[in-house]
Amino acid sequence: MNYKIGTLPGDGIGPEIVEQAVKVLNAVGEKYGHTFEFNYAVVGAAAIDATGNPYPDATHQVCMESDAVLFGAIGDPKYDNDPKAKVRPEQGLLGMRKKLGLYANIRPVNTFPSLIHKSPLRKDIVEGADFVVVRELTGGIYFGEPRGRSEDLKKAFDTCVYTTDEIERILKLAYEYAGKRDKRLTIVDKANVLGTSRLWREVAQEMEKEYPDIETDYMFVDNAAMQIIQWPKKFDVMVTENMFGDILSDEASVITGSLGLLPSASIGLHTSVFEPIHGSYPQAAGKDIANPIATVLSAAMLLESLNLLDEAAAVRKAVDASLEAGVVTEDIAEGKAYKTSEVGNWLAENVL
Ligand code: IPM
Ligand code: MG
Repeated sequence: MNYKIGTLPGDGIGPEIVEQAVKVLNAVGEKYGHTFEFNYAVVGAAAIDATGNPYPDATHQVCMESDAVLFGAIGDPKYDNDPKAKVRPEQGLLGMRKKLGLYANIRPVNTFPSLIHKSPLRKDIVEGADFVVVRELTGGIYFGEPRGRSEDLKKAFDTCVYTTDEIERILKLAYEYAGKRDKRLTIVDKANVLGTSRLWREVAQEMEKEYPDIETDYMFVDNAAMQIIQWPKKFDVMVTENMFGDILSDEASVITGSLGLLPSASIGLHTSVFEPIHGSYPQAAGKDIANPIATVLSAAMLLESLNLLDEAAAVRKAVDASLEAGVVTEDIAEGKAYKTSEVGNWLAENVL
């Protein structure tokens, strides 16, 4: 088969880590007889520099015509800490989410036996933790109107909005995910305070009846923040609204011990986007030291979304083998540290 992959390297280390995932996908193509056509486009600061727009129409077009999108990272320090900057790289990301209808962000959280000691949490707490955070990505306070400043500039406001359709859509996806896993779903909200959360709970309590084989649990977000760290093993699938999901998924990433290993998928109405959860790590850009594994595992999720399950499994196996063999970058190396490109080459050669 022939697949069109929108390829958006973005900023900082984005280009070098995406290059490794492209190598790995090409190796998969050769082994399994597929052709991946990588259509490159700019996004983030790179796009602002080139076109003035962090998510240009041409990039949107490339995404719309893709079977899936591989994304690196965005963000550049020259746009940070400047409250007056008119356009920011992050607006590109939010614009892309909205325009592609990327309503569900999926972040698996698991541990790697060889890296357990890297977690700041105790081994007995994290060993065997394996859950998924499903974050609603196109609604809530990130996008609600009205938002802005009062005329005298002394007041600012954002609005959190959810419709029953948006809630049903994300809950359905989360229930289906739970159905394929350990059949437990935790719905995280702040229904003791927020109207939107009460609507989530109302919709969820109705939907729960349609999934009698799945154990549904409700939890307030403050309590969930505590339990993720204290008993990470008790979770299977967790679903929540946009901003709670933003915060909880960063928190959950600590369990693994390395941000450089965690992939994510954003499932969309038009296409889906696969990207590492870490940022653009500008200090490392161009140095060939960044860990490409999160991006390579994102490519594995991309293959799964195309229903190429054996291919995805082969990529995951290559990653496990590289961790076991110690062919890893300096952030997780115990002995010799390999370069980004060396890890990429090794992974591509070991896709069997
Ligand atoms: C993320 C990021 C983004 C978000 C930022 C960069 C806008 O933190 O993908 O989690 O808040 O959603
Ligand atoms: Mg975030």
